[in-house]
Amino acid sequence: MIQSVLNQLIIKLTPLLPRSIVWRIAGKYVAGETAEEALSVIKELNDKKFLVTVDILGEHTNKAETADKITNEYLRLYDEIHKRGLDCNISVKPSHIGLDISLDCIHSNLNKLLEKAKGTDNFLRIDMESSLITDTTIELYEDFKKKYPKIGTVFQAYLHRTENDLKNLYRNGSFNFRLCKGIYKESSAIAIQRRRKINSNYLKLLRFAFENKIYVGIATHDLEILRNSYAMIADLNIPSNMFEFQVLYGVPMSGWLEKHLENGYKVRVYVPYGRDWYEYSIRRLKENPNIAGYILKDLFRK
Ligand code: FDA
Repeated sequence: MIQSVLNQLIIKLTPLLPRSIVWRIAGKYVAGETAEEALSVIKELNDKKFLVTVDILGEHTNKAETADKITNEYLRLYDEIHKRGLDCNISVKPSHIGLDISLDCIHSNLNKLLEKAKGTDNFLRIDMESSLITDTTIELYEDFKKKYPKIGTVFQAYLHRTENDLKNLYRNGSFNFRLCKGIYKESSAIAIQRRRKINSNYLKLLRFAFENKIYVGIATHDLEILRNSYAMIADLNIPSNMFEFQVLYGVPMSGWLEKHLENGYKVRVYVPYGRDWYEYSIRRLKENPNIAGYILKDLFRK
């Protein structure tokens, strides 16, 4: 109750705060405003043995020129990653590079990115956005996967549909996906609402991936899920080249990242950057009040 009042308070107050104050909170989770800043964070993380996936902040682009500009920035990132020998792939939101404009636009931009990924021996992950575009995102993924094997997508454990989606996709052979809980506000008709049930679905879906030899990115900060994942990896004797742990840049993990590395497990950090950090942070905050709670917890932890 108190937590929820505090969350609402943060959500109401944040848009009234100057950008510099919001940056003191959001800046912990964002690698900077420019590609150069992000590349230097990526290098630091690589030096500490972490893999990275980089994302330019933003979504719902409504002009083709803007979608092209963002796509070009991603193309330059692939080149820089290659040139600097960084261990980093790219995560992209379909609505950021043209899905809201037209199918032609998103097709053309994804095609450019995947050609570049191929040319620089890299990988592309298509992030999963709200349930309004789950079907299209899966279709895009299936379509491009035929031509470009180094592509992955994301499935959200809170969606009722996800188990079926995974099973359907698996019918056409193995694939590569990130498993997360899901961040968008969805109704109970579409998504499981209770944390306990989301967690149990998460573990069910993870087991499905492990048992069917599907490469999975275990993307969570939930220590209960991590403990259960460790047990499942041991029980099913899953080789460490069949999964990686993934976390968002800046989220405190109580020593778990180091523990993963000591166990010989891969850890990939999702590094967002970009000039849109302010709008993006405010939108996310309004959409999902729980994020306000994490920020509070984090402030008090200090
Ligand atoms: P949960 O929300 O239960 O959090 C567990 C604990 O982790 C919290 O109690 C808190 O302490 C801490 N925590 C979690 N998030 C935090 C934060 N932002 N700041 C501080 N502490 C935090 N979603 C989506 O819909 N589509 C996508 O493509 C992706 N992609 C993605 C990539 C990666 C690498 C990660 C880690 C996550 C995503 N997500 C996502 C977001 C995901 O769906 C989910 O909303 C968040 O990861 C929070 O869920 P947890 O599994 O961490 O559990």
